[in-house]
Amino acid sequence: METPEERYIREHSEPESDALRWITRETFLRTHYPRMLCGPVQGRLLTLLVQVTGARRVLEIGTFTGYATVCLASGLPEDGVVDTYEIDEERESLIREGISRAGLSGRINLHIGDFLKADLNEDETYDLVYIDGNKREYPAYLQRIVPILKSGGLILADDTLWDGKPFAETVPEDAQTQGICRFNELAAADPHLEAVILPLRHGLTLLRKKR
Ligand SMILES: C[S@@+](CC[C@H](N)C(=O)[O-])C[C@H]1O[C@@H](n2cnc3c(N)ncnc32)[C@H](O)[C@@H]1O
Repeated sequence: METPEERYIREHSEPESDALRWITRETFLRTHYPRMLCGPVQGRLLTLLVQVTGARRVLEIGTFTGYATVCLASGLPEDGVVDTYEIDEERESLIREGISRAGLSGRINLHIGDFLKADLNEDETYDLVYIDGNKREYPAYLQRIVPILKSGGLILADDTLWDGKPFAETVPEDAQTQGICRFNELAAADPHLEAVILPLRHGLTLLRKKR
């Protein structure tokens, strides 16, 4: 059920495409975790950030059902590409159908497999990286991503406020919260990165790699 605030935002923002509405509906019908969708506001922000940064090569960790993937690819120029990684092979057909409905098959390379085991032999390949995988693995993602991010490039990391758990009076000891806490500490302390956390949904961190 949409809140009055959500409705107001929707009515005064760029409308969702038919393909994104289809992905949302199918995600609710065919998966147990529709809450993992980034949703229309964050999705539109992803499109806009790709557009304003002029990114041509984008990496996403954690495709899920492809909602954010389609948003990222929608902001690319004709020759731009999103490499997106999803560890759960059961999601493949739904992801591919959504991408095809969005008319973006030519701009998206779907990699089914573990991003942490992917062969990444290149230097400074990506203009923009969206981290939205397993929260336990966020610190390991950061370690892999900084070398393959171009100077001046942007990392976006989702869920970095994790329902307020990282700054609770007693910080929970579960592995997901600890992963997010460690990621936030590493990001803030890295001399190569400039960081800001936006309180959007469950927290969205923007990290710029210094030139
Ligand atoms: C929060 S969901 C992603 C939501 C999606 N970005 C969106 O906005 O619609 C996290 C996804 O990351 C995937 N994942 C977890 N660990 C991964 C890994 N090491 N490599 C690739 N995908 C991973 C999970 O299977 C899950 O589908």
